[in-house]
Amino acid sequence: MTDIVYLNGEFIAKEHAKISVLDRGFLFADGVYEVIPVYRKTPFRSKQHLTRLFDSLKKIDLPSPFDEQRWLDLIDEVVALNVEHLGENQSIYLQVTRGSEPYRQHQVMAKPKPSVLIMSSTLKDSAQTLTPQRATLMEDIRWLHCDIKSIALLANTLLINRAKAQGFDEAILYRDNELTEGASSNVFVVKSDKIYTPPKSQFILGGITRDLIIELCLQHGLEVYQQRIHIEELPEADEIWICSSTREISPIVAIDDKIIGSGEIGPLTTRISSALQDFKSQLL
Ligand SMILES: Cc1ncc(COP(=O)(O)O)c(C=O)c1O
Repeated sequence: MTDIVYLNGEFIAKEHAKISVLDRGFLFADGVYEVIPVYRKTPFRSKQHLTRLFDSLKKIDLPSPFDEQRWLDLIDEVVALNVEHLGENQSIYLQVTRGSEPYRQHQVMAKPKPSVLIMSSTLKDSAQTLTPQRATLMEDIRWLHCDIKSIALLANTLLINRAKAQGFDEAILYRDNELTEGASSNVFVVKSDKIYTPPKSQFILGGITRDLIIELCLQHGLEVYQQRIHIEELPEADEIWICSSTREISPIVAIDDKIIGSGEIGPLTTRISSALQDFKSQLL
């Protein structure tokens, strides 16, 4: 069975979905995106993801082509159309670009019609087992608006490819010697039973999983601080984990050649991860 995607008003087979070479997303990476996990056919934290989508769109001066309910309906439709072959756990990818114009030019001339793509893939419900990962520290070479979930991901892809080529699972990034985030994840650091993560700013994407983890830490009476973290503090951490919507929580047991804590999955990582699983199962 072939994947069905939504593209500009149509539900069509993925191999037939075509976009103009003049689309500003293709030419300039002029667009934004979201990735929403779907468990048992239900999009998880969809309102939060759509709020972030609206925020990203606003920050690039592009009105949303749909209201929240229309987005939710389209997402449900894509999930339903693919459920037989992708299963009930899916990862929805949606992107909005500024659309196409008659010829390539930086300046937007007319009022182009946004292009909208929604597609899905199978989601591995990975969090049942925590997999220890190794990260490498790299300078954050991205632009200064990382809070926008932009489709311009050249820096992120260069960083993760270079990390992977050296045998690491993730690149953990720093700017001016301060931790920002992972190439496609947020980072949490545990020291003496306190949990730290960099504050929201233009230097990081405000992760939906990051927000949920902070909520869960507070519910569980854990001390969590959103504050700047110097990279020299990282080797001294007891535990480090990264998080994202599709990977949930991944323990980082080493950064470059430095073992973090005991080198094993730490107790707070395990605790937060099970709190996240409990939270999910209560909703489903
Ligand atoms: C740069 C970056 N930071 C953080 C995240 C985590 O965000 P979320 O938890 O919303 O998936 C992602 C997810 O793709 C990301 O690309």
